[in-house]
Amino acid sequence: MNLFNSAFDPAREAALVTGAGNGIGRAIAQALVGEGVRTVFADLHEDRVSAAIKAAPRPELAVPWVGDLASRDGCDALLAHAQSSIGQVTHFVHSASPPRREADHAMAVGDHTWRQMHAVNLDAGFHLSRELARSLIAAKTPGSFLLLTSLHSGTPRNLPHYSTAKAGMAMLVKELAKSWGRYGIRVNALVPGAIAAGGFVADPALARHIPLGRLGQADDLAPMALAVLSHKLSGYVTGASIVIDGGLSLTNWFAPPELE
Ligand SMILES: NC(=O)c1ccc[n+]([C@@H]2O[C@H](COP(=O)([O-])OP(=O)(O)OC[C@H]3O[C@@H](n4cnc5c(N)ncnc54)[C@H](O)[C@@H]3O)[C@@H](O)[C@H]2O)c1
Repeated sequence: MNLFNSAFDPAREAALVTGAGNGIGRAIAQALVGEGVRTVFADLHEDRVSAAIKAAPRPELAVPWVGDLASRDGCDALLAHAQSSIGQVTHFVHSASPPRREADHAMAVGDHTWRQMHAVNLDAGFHLSRELARSLIAAKTPGSFLLLTSLHSGTPRNLPHYSTAKAGMAMLVKELAKSWGRYGIRVNALVPGAIAAGGFVADPALARHIPLGRLGQADDLAPMALAVLSHKLSGYVTGASIVIDGGLSLTNWFAPPELE
């Protein structure tokens, strides 16, 4: 079997990626069109969407959408646009997330910032997943969904609005995977470590805590994202959290042993 050729079936499969204007979402959306999959690039910022599509390997397969996923109307407009432009969405990636600001600690984060973080990550992640699943179930078509969570779904980040939104998403992945497995819809979480993308202002000194010795790049995430999305490569994987962190989460109060 030629495992890595044609991981997708572009005649029957089409994708929707949120947060496709920047960072990890952009890298995954570009990789999907590179595999021949028609893909909606959804983001809040028009200039980012245009730039992401322009730099994609096969821009003719990319469909732009610009809007605000913090609102239910925004989510429904995206679903309608996806339906009319690419038809049935079989592969969904939810990477949109408002910026994290270190100043938004437990005593400072405001109501609006708290609500936006939950609205875009958790509420939109749930609503978009459920509506896409409804359509797939009605059409008796399998699907594969990937939600971007975080190591901070399980350990504090000094940003309670962010860590609680990600903790909610981590459980959402398990709930949806359990509910929809019987319909052939797989739902998994991609868990990035310290990725020097737009949403994380990376201190290069962090590299000393990472066993593989460097911060991650958005392109470190895309190949694994495609593998987890592809039914051919991961058809028996659902409800899983796939950690891509260069080993960062292995760090604790013990330094690695001296070997020389
Ligand atoms: N970069 C990391 O180190 C890291 C680590 C753990 C988890 N993550 C998660 O991975 C995902 C992507 O992270 P990133 O660093 O690539 O982020 P990013 O900030 O580079 O990209 C996020 C994109 O989401 C878009 N967005 C924000 N609010 C939106 C809204 N209301 N409607 C529509 N689009 C909106 C932004 O415009 C942006 O282009 C996020 O969910 C993030 O929490 C990232």
